[in-house]
Amino acid sequence: MALTADQVRADFPGLARRVHERLLVYLDNSATSPTPRPVRQAIDDFYNLYSANVHRGLHTLSEEATAAFEGARARTAAFVGASGPEAVVFTRGSTSAINLVARSWGESLGPGDAILLSVAEHHGNLVPWQMLAARRGVELRFLELTPAGTLDLSALERLLTPEVKLVALAQVSNVLGYELPVATIVAAARAVGARVLLDAAQSVGHLPVDFGALGVDFLAFSAHKMCGPTGLGCLVARPELLEAMEPIEGGGDMIVHVGLHKSTWNRSPFKFEAGTPPIAQAIGLAAAIDYLEGVGLEWIAEHTRDLCDEAAARLAELPGVRVVGPLTGRLGPVAFTMTGVHPHDIATILDGEGVAIRAGHHCAQPLHELLGLESTARASFYLTNQPSDIDALIDALEMVRKVFG
Ligand SMILES: Cc1ncc(COP(=O)(O)O)c(C=O)c1O
Repeated sequence: MALTADQVRADFPGLARRVHERLLVYLDNSATSPTPRPVRQAIDDFYNLYSANVHRGLHTLSEEATAAFEGARARTAAFVGASGPEAVVFTRGSTSAINLVARSWGESLGPGDAILLSVAEHHGNLVPWQMLAARRGVELRFLELTPAGTLDLSALERLLTPEVKLVALAQVSNVLGYELPVATIVAAARAVGARVLLDAAQSVGHLPVDFGALGVDFLAFSAHKMCGPTGLGCLVARPELLEAMEPIEGGGDMIVHVGLHKSTWNRSPFKFEAGTPPIAQAIGLAAAIDYLEGVGLEWIAEHTRDLCDEAAARLAELPGVRVVGPLTGRLGPVAFTMTGVHPHDIATILDGEGVAIRAGHHCAQPLHELLGLESTARASFYLTNQPSDIDALIDALEMVRKVFG
């Protein structure tokens, strides 16, 4: 029997709360998704029953914590089709995963080398490369947009010259909502010997993502956007690349031997995880993965796409409303503007109606500037949403129109 959003929502009691005396309609999933009961339970169990540090203890609690933490790494590796746990580095989030690549692998680049990005990248997949460009004299190149609001891949051949050493793109844009045709990108990058980094912050946990099958070199994602806890992300990489990379942070756990003047590094992924790692968060991520697989990644993707198609179509019918990016095929975020109303005012009035959306540049300021917009309003959908949430959004926008005449 097909799953319904109602069955899923039963695991998220927080969604039944009231905001400003209205039943909450949570449409800010692209920023952070809600956390289901089993994830909170797994974290609670860790703190209640075996809260201890990992890797270095010889007592039972530490051994249990280590087994759960390393089990979470193995679970994550299997979930995203990585070669094994050695391919998974725990970081603070997608942003710090991408910074790790830029500050470690990126140091091998210099003048004459180029990195290909797009004008639609989240700041987390833009600013680290700008910093590398300033440090190492690397050139940044950008894929632009088609009038339909997708990436203009017809420019790939012109932009992808042998100078390009890395192509770094979001699998799903957090504003435009489109899904990147990863196979096309990987084939084109391979043809000039470039590595590929996939910013999967909006895609892992939202659709089936297989690192090995996609054939990319680096994959970055965040636990808090896929029903997991905040404060944790992952860098998944080819083990041979990780082995060749230098750590960017020093401290406990990332070493094999420490002398007063010199130390030797642990093997990867441990050499990239200086200090006490995010133990509870990793355990929570493993529970989130169990949860998402229980619901079914195919179901989640189809459910989210259907909601986005309907939301985009209904928004586009409203007078003065413009959907930013394609009207169909979106996975999660639906950004829009309303003539004569600032997106912050839209979000504030919607909050008064119990509808939580986001307004601003969504950490994609260059994209907004290119589109001639200071900011947009963004409703974003995920597994807990239902068609009635779109009704609530449209009704609340009617209220905005009344307020602003
Ligand atoms: C496409 C994309 N990349 C990167 C990030 C950064 O994620 P985090 O803030 O969890 O590091 C986000 C967050 O919204 C995103 O949407």
